[in-house]
Amino acid sequence: MTEHLKMDEVQPRLLDETTQGAIHRPMPRPEGPLKVSGRATYAAEWKMDNAANGVLVRAAIPKGHYKVDASSVEAMPGFLGVYTDRMPRNAAQGTMNTNPAQIGDEIQYLGQPIAVAVAETFEQARDIAAALKIDYDRDDDVAAGPDTAQQVNEKDDPFDQGDLDRAMADAAHSVDATYTTKGHNSAAMEPHAALAVWDGDKLTVRASLQMLGYNRNELADSLGIDAENLRLLSPYIGGGFGSKLGISPEAIAASVAAKELGRPVRVVMTRNNVFETVVRRTETRQRLRLALDADGKLTGIGQENWQSNLPEEPFAEPVDLATHFLYAGANRRYGQHIAIVNRSAAGSVRAPGEAVGMLALENAMDELAEAAGIDPIDLRVANIPETHPENGKPFSSRSLAECLRQGAEAFGWSARQAPGARREGEWLIGMGVASAARTNILQESKARVTLNPDGTALVETDMTDIGTGTYAILGQIAAEMLGLPPEKVTVELGDTDLPKASGSGGSWGAASAGSAVFLGAKGIRRRLAERLGCTPEDLRLQDGVATGGNNRRPLAELMDAPLSEIGHLETGAKSNDVHQAGYGAHFAEVAVNTVTGEVRVRRMLAAMAAGRILNEQTARSQVWGGQIWGIGTALTEGLDHDPRTGHIVNNDLAEYHVPVNLDVPDLDVIFVEERDDDANPIQAKGIGELGLSGAGAAITNAIYNACGVRVRDYPATPDRIFSHL
Ligand code: MOS
Repeated sequence: MTEHLKMDEVQPRLLDETTQGAIHRPMPRPEGPLKVSGRATYAAEWKMDNAANGVLVRAAIPKGHYKVDASSVEAMPGFLGVYTDRMPRNAAQGTMNTNPAQIGDEIQYLGQPIAVAVAETFEQARDIAAALKIDYDRDDDVAAGPDTAQQVNEKDDPFDQGDLDRAMADAAHSVDATYTTKGHNSAAMEPHAALAVWDGDKLTVRASLQMLGYNRNELADSLGIDAENLRLLSPYIGGGFGSKLGISPEAIAASVAAKELGRPVRVVMTRNNVFETVVRRTETRQRLRLALDADGKLTGIGQENWQSNLPEEPFAEPVDLATHFLYAGANRRYGQHIAIVNRSAAGSVRAPGEAVGMLALENAMDELAEAAGIDPIDLRVANIPETHPENGKPFSSRSLAECLRQGAEAFGWSARQAPGARREGEWLIGMGVASAARTNILQESKARVTLNPDGTALVETDMTDIGTGTYAILGQIAAEMLGLPPEKVTVELGDTDLPKASGSGGSWGAASAGSAVFLGAKGIRRRLAERLGCTPEDLRLQDGVATGGNNRRPLAELMDAPLSEIGHLETGAKSNDVHQAGYGAHFAEVAVNTVTGEVRVRRMLAAMAAGRILNEQTARSQVWGGQIWGIGTALTEGLDHDPRTGHIVNNDLAEYHVPVNLDVPDLDVIFVEERDDDANPIQAKGIGELGLSGAGAAITNAIYNACGVRVRDYPATPDRIFSHL
């Protein structure tokens, strides 16, 4: 049977009535021991007799046409084949649900996958890929970057409310500043990999993917097969951050080659492949305008951004996503310009939009606070709007002021001094703050929940766990609802044969798939209440015992066979009628070396409000990830492109600097108590990407407070500080 809910109205807070105590509490991930001991089998690790190995062959020119000459490598050891058929230019964008661009013999960026070389072993395939003769017909009319692009697409619907120019002219204090951010790579620990096996018309692919429901349609469409004939398996995923949202070249290549050869084919990306071929976050240039009246109220906000992508690629970094609703101000203008370039595809990378848009907005707010002589926290709190400043919609739960205030208290914000005032030897010390905001999204999800008479339970869904804690929280929700200790619940994920959930992306997975599990368990509770002779409202389940009315019975006496229910959550009016977002505040203390310009982050604190926190430990880990990426964004990370070819030159983890242990200080996280009744039946909001939103801006604002240098070009490397000291 199915327990269905369309989220049209507020639901009772059932998870505040249950008494098992399985939810909210910090619980380690149940699959953790498998992962750290090497027993969790990732896509490339499946042992399969007779599996051949493929290596992607990639374009060595940025633009033109190509033809491969397989006869040049046929005699090499282990050679099995070279295939170009159906090769995609790049991965599908998240939730695309159709094939990514497949452009035949055309090349549009250096590093584009153009063929797969298949051999008995990986080493042989790598050799063959390197030796393969490719005839290029080179087109020298290359747009290596936004500056040399001949085509710039404007966003279809520019937003212009009131008169921003007028507001700027009339302002008591204003900021008009331009910020730049470099591109980013997701740099997930597990490189992309796929193992494809055909059985007649049936294809099974083990891969590393975030959204199996979409990925199944994308791969089937790419291959020209019926999705019914395709099964995807992704039980363990070593990080995604957006780079595994859409089906990507290795999965398509493995499937094509396996069909041709009539045997399983495995294709694994190298780290270089990941950097050059997987979607990047676009570089941005952003002009921020803020107008403030004499009373400290914002009268105008403007954010205009420039970015880049390949031709016909249906993605733009939504840089102004949070700016639309975070602060008040009657006069508002946004613009988006996308330069068409010969660089790898730009796509979703952790917190697409806020990750870079909030850097500029929150830096500009800091500049405005200084210009007006107002404390940066007071300025923010004073400008929290009553309703959505552009469409008038009410907000759901929104604890931004509480996050700023409670965070300030916990961080010791009152000790902050003027720029240059706090010195320790060569080091100047400063503090910075930034708001965090991330739109909250609910997606249709199904999950099957089965309760067994012996007091164990099973949760099944095609949902994924990309390192976020899905296994833990789905088990906790079922345990809480069914009155079982969490260790009695088994969670099966990552298989398209199971009920279809939202997938992991957009920070919507926990609340969406979690609501489906909640509903499935709610259906079981209804049936247990019937058997016990009480109403579902009166039913209490704890430690395998059901109580209700005047009855008290262990589960084993109520059931002689398993009870199974599908929970089905659909989005409803609440997604449209109410504006939902998670909020938070980031604090950072940095030391800037006056001799070298080096920045050391000394401590960070994040105060976060994301509705019900399902598992304090996994939620905190998500925020830590955001804080750490904030350090990377602020200080070290950035893709460097060859100005002649657009090629990403820092294409490994030695040259692309993600923060390492020594870069990361003590990270504090506090959760502000909240329930979001409009969001979903479990009153939870997404937290993953919220942790990154604004994090880097707190650091650059702290740099200014330390030494008086405003860095508007990210990352804030020593040269960008030292020369201004
Ligand atoms: Mo996230 S960039 O939606 O995986």
